[in-house]
Amino acid sequence: RGKRAFIAGVADDNGYGWAIAKALAAAGAEILVGTWVPALKIFETSLRRGKFDESRLLPDGSLMEITKVYPLDAVYDTPEDVPEDVKTNKRYASSSNWTVKEVAESVKNDFGTIDILVHSLANGPEVTKHLLETSRKGYLAAISASSYSFVSLLQNFLPIMNPGGASISLTYIASERTIPGYGGGMSSAKAALESDTRVLAFEAGRVRKIRVNTISAGPLGSRAAKAIGFIEKMINYSYTNAPLQKELSADEVGNAAAFLVSPLASAVTGSVVYVDNGLNTMGLAC
Ligand code: NAI
Repeated sequence: RGKRAFIAGVADDNGYGWAIAKALAAAGAEILVGTWVPALKIFETSLRRGKFDESRLLPDGSLMEITKVYPLDAVYDTPEDVPEDVKTNKRYASSSNWTVKEVAESVKNDFGTIDILVHSLANGPEVTKHLLETSRKGYLAAISASSYSFVSLLQNFLPIMNPGGASISLTYIASERTIPGYGGGMSSAKAALESDTRVLAFEAGRVRKIRVNTISAGPLGSRAAKAIGFIEKMINYSYTNAPLQKELSADEVGNAAAFLVSPLASAVTGSVVYVDNGLNTMGLAC
């Protein structure tokens, strides 16, 4: 039987989540995605109208199939956690069962089990603010959407993950080196995500033989990254200063993710794996 993957954080064909979905599909996996509720309608419409057909193309000439798209808001674990104004918001009210626990239950009811869990989402409402100017609310929101969301997803999906399965998330070098401009507590959120990768690898490894890794990816002009405002600068900086002076494509991160969740990486867990043209190894801009 082919493997089944649930990929949280796909809402267009530009980001790392989409590229990971493609790499897994190319390797024969069945693809389920979790799409942020406010972005669901446009994503499903675009998918249905063929807007993504060109980017659905796989190396063997076939088109990636997404078996099912689940609405998801990874900052809420159960319906009791959802505040009234969100509950009654038009975009949220027109979907149902989108808290993390409910999505895991829906996947269980629909498919029974999964093998691969991918977390490719982040959000920091104050990302453009310096840490010195970040509010408590903004900081905690960044941690909630970008770090705890992974803890929650793994907590809720672990019981339906087949032993030998694996999970992966995406992190950024701002967790360990100062990247001016990556603010609002997002650098803190990535540091938490990396630390949690180690602890969760231990816990999920012991209870269910599930591996947990994170990819520290180089800069990509995704929708989320454009919202931060300095992504072009980061891409140029990387192009100039990395050991490999080339553009980083989302597919390169997708391929590394496919390796990490495959049996080829059966002894790799708890790791931060750099897929960044080597930029992280440099000590001097050069
Ligand atoms: P993206 O825009 O393709 O993906 C982010 C996704 O998160 C979007 O689909 C958005 O709808 C979703 N999202 C936001 N809040 C959510 C919530 N509460 N519940 C569910 N989904 C939610 O952008 P990108 O850049 O591909 O981001 C994917 C991951 O890669 C993120 O963790 C990001 O921090 C990481 N990353 C990105 C880099 C870049 O330069 N683009 C560099 C290193 C890491």
